[in-house]
Amino acid sequence: AVINRLDYQEPAFRVENINLVFNLDPVTTTVYNTMRIEPLTDSDHDLVLNGSELELASVFENGSPLSTERYTVTPEALIIRGIRQKTTITIYNKFHPQANTLLSGIYMSNGNFMSQCESEGFRRITYFPDHPDMLTRFHVEIRADKEQYPILLSNGNLIEQGDLDNGRHFAIWEDPSLKPCYLFALVAGKLVKREEVYKLANGKDCLLQVWVEPQNADKTEHTMECIKRAIHWDETRWGLEYDLDRFMLVATDDFNFGAMENKGLNIFNTRYVLATPKMATDLDYFNIESVVGHEYFHNWTGDRVTLRDWFQLTLKEGLTVFRDQEFSRDMLGKSAVIKRIMDVRALRSRQFPEDAGPMAHPIRPESYRQINNFYTMTVYEKGAEIYRMLQTMLGKEGFKKGLSLYIERNDGRAATCEDFINAMAEANGRDLKQFFLWYSQAGTPRVQVKTYWDPEASTYTIVASQSTPATPGQPVKHPFVIPIAVGLVDSEGHDIPLQLEGETAPLGTTRVLELKDEENEWTFVNVGSRPVPSLLRDFSAPVILDYAYTRDELAFLARNDADPFNRWDAMNRLMLGVLEDMTDVIEMGGKPEADHNLLSSFEQILTDETLTPAFRAITLQLPAENLIGEPRAVIDPDAIRKARTELKAAIGRRYSSLLFKLAESYETPGDYSPDSESAGRRSLKNLAYDYLITGGNPKALIALRGQFEKANNLTDKLAALTSVVNSASPAKTNMLVEAAKEWQGNPILINKWLTVQASAGTQPGEADTLTRVRQLMDCGAFSIKNPNNVYALILAFCNNEPEFHRKDGKGYEFWLQILRELCSVNEYVAARVARTLDHWKRYTPDRAQMMYRVLNEAKHIPGLPVGVQEILDKSLGLT
Ligand code: ARG
Ligand code: ZN
Repeated sequence: AVINRLDYQEPAFRVENINLVFNLDPVTTTVYNTMRIEPLTDSDHDLVLNGSELELASVFENGSPLSTERYTVTPEALIIRGIRQKTTITIYNKFHPQANTLLSGIYMSNGNFMSQCESEGFRRITYFPDHPDMLTRFHVEIRADKEQYPILLSNGNLIEQGDLDNGRHFAIWEDPSLKPCYLFALVAGKLVKREEVYKLANGKDCLLQVWVEPQNADKTEHTMECIKRAIHWDETRWGLEYDLDRFMLVATDDFNFGAMENKGLNIFNTRYVLATPKMATDLDYFNIESVVGHEYFHNWTGDRVTLRDWFQLTLKEGLTVFRDQEFSRDMLGKSAVIKRIMDVRALRSRQFPEDAGPMAHPIRPESYRQINNFYTMTVYEKGAEIYRMLQTMLGKEGFKKGLSLYIERNDGRAATCEDFINAMAEANGRDLKQFFLWYSQAGTPRVQVKTYWDPEASTYTIVASQSTPATPGQPVKHPFVIPIAVGLVDSEGHDIPLQLEGETAPLGTTRVLELKDEENEWTFVNVGSRPVPSLLRDFSAPVILDYAYTRDELAFLARNDADPFNRWDAMNRLMLGVLEDMTDVIEMGGKPEADHNLLSSFEQILTDETLTPAFRAITLQLPAENLIGEPRAVIDPDAIRKARTELKAAIGRRYSSLLFKLAESYETPGDYSPDSESAGRRSLKNLAYDYLITGGNPKALIALRGQFEKANNLTDKLAALTSVVNSASPAKTNMLVEAAKEWQGNPILINKWLTVQASAGTQPGEADTLTRVRQLMDCGAFSIKNPNNVYALILAFCNNEPEFHRKDGKGYEFWLQILRELCSVNEYVAARVARTLDHWKRYTPDRAQMMYRVLNEAKHIPGLPVGVQEILDKSLGLT
């Protein structure tokens, strides 16, 4: 069935409180669920309690068995009739944690009980109105075997614990806050903690705990530091304080997503918690900080202010991603732009394609069949850009005022996107009606810019026009409000002070122009020589910018732009343009050559000591293959990889001595530290080696083998392994064996080991990548039931363009086989794998036809889950 946003109905009942008693057992767990229920309307509504894969044992009202005429049980719900006044309903039901391979509800992970309720997991635990607007107070008693499950956790405050008969014990938790059931959490098992008492800004002590399995006790120091930084940042940047006496975080190896913001008891995928120099890269350290921040920030934007219905998801997710991005940027200090570059790169390479494909949807979708399919790059990352645009337009202070008003008005409520925009508009005295179109229209706007310099009048005119392509269900689009931050760079490389016609004096060197109509223009005065425009500084809007830059101008901006983001972007555009040309040449059977403008910019940036190593490294990385594919009429993954590899090799050969010297001078001797300065040095060094080895440099191979053996940190070790595995060197075999020996027993490391191999190309004379992936599935380190394993091996392979899209179609057969298996194990993971064929139409006709065929075959998988069906139908253009 399709759920529509406009069909929302206010609840007819309120659940005043819920009392849950769990008798935990891996095979069959029993729940006593007592709810105080109050009808809210006079009309005679049935009480619909959602339930899924539950066994109902009995139902009572005010302590007496409810007569069977009063209720109906279906596979999806328990419906109770005739509730006219406040009453107490008690339900006794069972479920099966061990059999729960969907990892939604309560399930087992390495012998421990874990939970995940967002979005609709609570109904897999007990009968309840499982909607985000049903706020209630939770009182939870957990009973379990004491030896097997010494630690018993739930949300809120620990009220009491003690022993029971038969070696069992109990703990009682009470959450003082009002919350929807998707924020409920329960954890039980053998866990150890790192704990600390932290003083909040308000002077209160807060107990911070990070819980992990015993073998991971020594890997949580970084996470604890991140929690403290997040608490402090939310206090200082937004004035938002933590509200409970304790904040707990639990890590599990079996988790569908990254992490979950359950009130006071966040549950994380271990990959965003565990870190030591030997098992986490610089990037892992960095990502842990942002995910810890993200989940912590949800306490205000998600938990205290929650959602009226799931269509509003971006109200908490887009906003909280925006907050975690700002947090990470602030933590980076002077390297802040690196975070912006990483975020925009992800947006362009993963969200733009989504917005241009069959799954395109606005950040607030209008309908869904399976809500889990809408935890997307669009809702999260494009959503974050919408909040960022508001901050750009209203100023940091104005945005902060709006956010405060929003929180003040909606604390303890289930809110909507309108509530947010109204608060922003009111706090700033601004009409945001047109801006609100960003919530309802899908598709990436294209902004075309033309500029005119008038030497007589010394004026410079910028004309910007917008258009947004049709997306499924939205043939016609209205103009958006698009903030375009611009600067004008003179021939010396300096920003010109900007004075618009009609203004009496210049106002700074970066101005935010608001494009509101199909076309608008702005004229700057006192522009005495022709400048180069620096457009969309800091990526001020999630749009595709068309401006006919020459390669000279891009090279100029890459060297001179005062906006570091645009310096990166100019180099990126230059590289993309060159790679497009090279791909064209390869497709026509020619031999491509690297462009001289690109080569000299490359050298210039490489050797510019005024730039941080981190910035040089990220700027000199070639664009990803799928970005090269994006603008092409037809995608041929082989040609793209060939072009990219040839350019890399050409650079590696041409600058070999320079790269070598550089690699040697950016060593990071001494103890490992993940700080941004050292991380930057490592990334520049490893980038240099990667160019060298792609260029076939034998000395680089020796250096990387040495680095692999001696490195005291995973960044260097993994970089060396990855570069060698992607080279033609036979040394890779031994290195992979070495790595397996050293990493076995650590699932996070083993997943990295799987990914390196699934992402590699096939060299002449080697077994092809698909064959190796199939072998790895049987190597004992892989389980199809573990989402991290599937993402590390299968998804990584499906994103390995030339290997997955092999001409014989074997990649697609593999996809179908895996999808079939996953449908009966974990439909959420299946849906993610299903999405890797979204863009079938974009490929060469032979490939497109084969993809079309397997997509259709997949529709006949027995017991096809509706969520997977939704993806397949959309991909095929059927709905
Ligand atoms: N709310 C979690 C987060 O963004 C993610 C939960 C994902 N749930 C889902 N059903 N996809 O922090
Ligand atoms: Zn989130």
